[in-house]
Amino acid sequence: MEDPFSKPPAVPEVLPLPGMGARLVRLQGGDVVPLVRAIEENWNSLHDWMLWAAEPPTLIERTADLLSAHDRWERGEAYEYKIVMDEEPARIAGRVALRIKDREGDIGYWLAEEHRGKGLVTAAVMALEQVMTQMPQIESAVIFCDAANTDSAAVARRAGYELEEIFEEPPKVPAGSGRMMRWRRQIAPRS
Ligand SMILES: CC(C)(COP(=O)(O)OP(=O)(O)OC[C@H]1O[C@@H](n2cnc3c(N)ncnc32)[C@H](O)[C@@H]1OP(=O)(O)O)[C@@H](O)C(=O)NCCC(=O)NCCS
Repeated sequence: MEDPFSKPPAVPEVLPLPGMGARLVRLQGGDVVPLVRAIEENWNSLHDWMLWAAEPPTLIERTADLLSAHDRWERGEAYEYKIVMDEEPARIAGRVALRIKDREGDIGYWLAEEHRGKGLVTAAVMALEQVMTQMPQIESAVIFCDAANTDSAAVARRAGYELEEIFEEPPKVPAGSGRMMRWRRQIAPRS
């Protein structure tokens, strides 16, 4: 019989962001309407930088996205959260993802324009670090961003990531420069 005490703890579905008036909550299928609304309200900046935002969102496409997010969570492949402000629990203020790739946790994020400039995403990235420390296979966390996306690079820097490499890649988003940054932060001590 499997020893239940040998298993790593389950990934929490709610992560507090202390002092931010907000929390991270696991994305679920029922989030599709507020998700589409949040994407529509922040369309220009998301379209500029996010690969999935090439076309305006639809309920069908975002439902598929959320079903896929559900499956990936259950399979332990990726953990996706919405950012929820305490004062607006029915709305979605942003989204963060932790994708598990072998020994790396790959983090992605976006935030509604009205909530930028308060440190919310930096706090969210740091909260995901707490999750990764509970995952024995994870050695480090990475953040990829376009070299021209200074707001995104600033999140990585503020959260304690180090710029590991800048590499050429044909731009895949409208504001892309063709130069990508990879930021890394060690999670487990190097053996
Ligand atoms: C990238 C993005 C999430 C950054 O949002 P943001 O609000 O700048 O990031 P944070 O939530 O970490 O907040 C940092 C800002 O809050 C300020 N701040 C205020 N209080 C803070 C605190 N307690 N801790 C940290 N920062 C704080 C910082 O000074 C910074 O503002 P500044 O850039 O004017 O100096 C946002 O610009 C976005 O969604 N862009 C479009 C999508 C995108 O590019 N995603 C990333 C793709 S790789």
